[in-house]
Amino acid sequence: MAAPSLATLWREQAADDLERGKTPLVVDSHVIPPGTQFGVNLYALHHNEKYFPDAFTFNPDRWLTDSSDTQYRAFAPFVARPRSCAGRAMSYLEVSLAMAKTLWYFDFRRAAGPLGEVGQGTKGVETGFGNVDEFQILDMFNANHEGPYLVFRPRGDHCDELD
Ligand code: HEM
Repeated sequence: MAAPSLATLWREQAADDLERGKTPLVVDSHVIPPGTQFGVNLYALHHNEKYFPDAFTFNPDRWLTDSSDTQYRAFAPFVARPRSCAGRAMSYLEVSLAMAKTLWYFDFRRAAGPLGEVGQGTKGVETGFGNVDEFQILDMFNANHEGPYLVFRPRGDHCDELD
């Protein structure tokens, strides 16, 4: 829903590819001439209802399916094939460990008051940032963001008692 790299990562066929006997580049039946840039925007891909029904709803259960399902092929936060992320395996290791330890040791929830609203969309805004329930990502080479601010404490007592 909010992958760190959501920009369009542009590609183009090398100018001399055809002279060197390589085949023309064809994407979805369209010939892409050398020098023409093309790309798939990962935000658009990850919010495509064809692959991720109800795409703006946080629903981890959507992944409790057969790993051959189309959504697994459409999920590409590290891009795919050549020039995909060299740190993918390391990132999964780090993120899995950090998530597992966090969930094991803490309960957490959104911070109270205005801090808890940092990063959410603004109702009525028509520039693409109007979805209040969506954590807003800014399009950069890597995504920038503000927040979220979370309040952690060792697990045990009830979370609602926090300020
Ligand atoms: C959650 C963490 C990460 C995400 C989501 C991520 C995502 C990406 C993406 C989308 C690209 C492709 C850029 C493009 O096509 O222009 C990329 C490339 C790359 N990433 Fe990562 N990355 C992550 C962490 C890391 C880490 C930890 C390392 C190194 C230890 C790393 C090293 C690289 C390198 C070297 C490339 C360039 C590969 C190439 O062009 O051949 N990444 N990454």
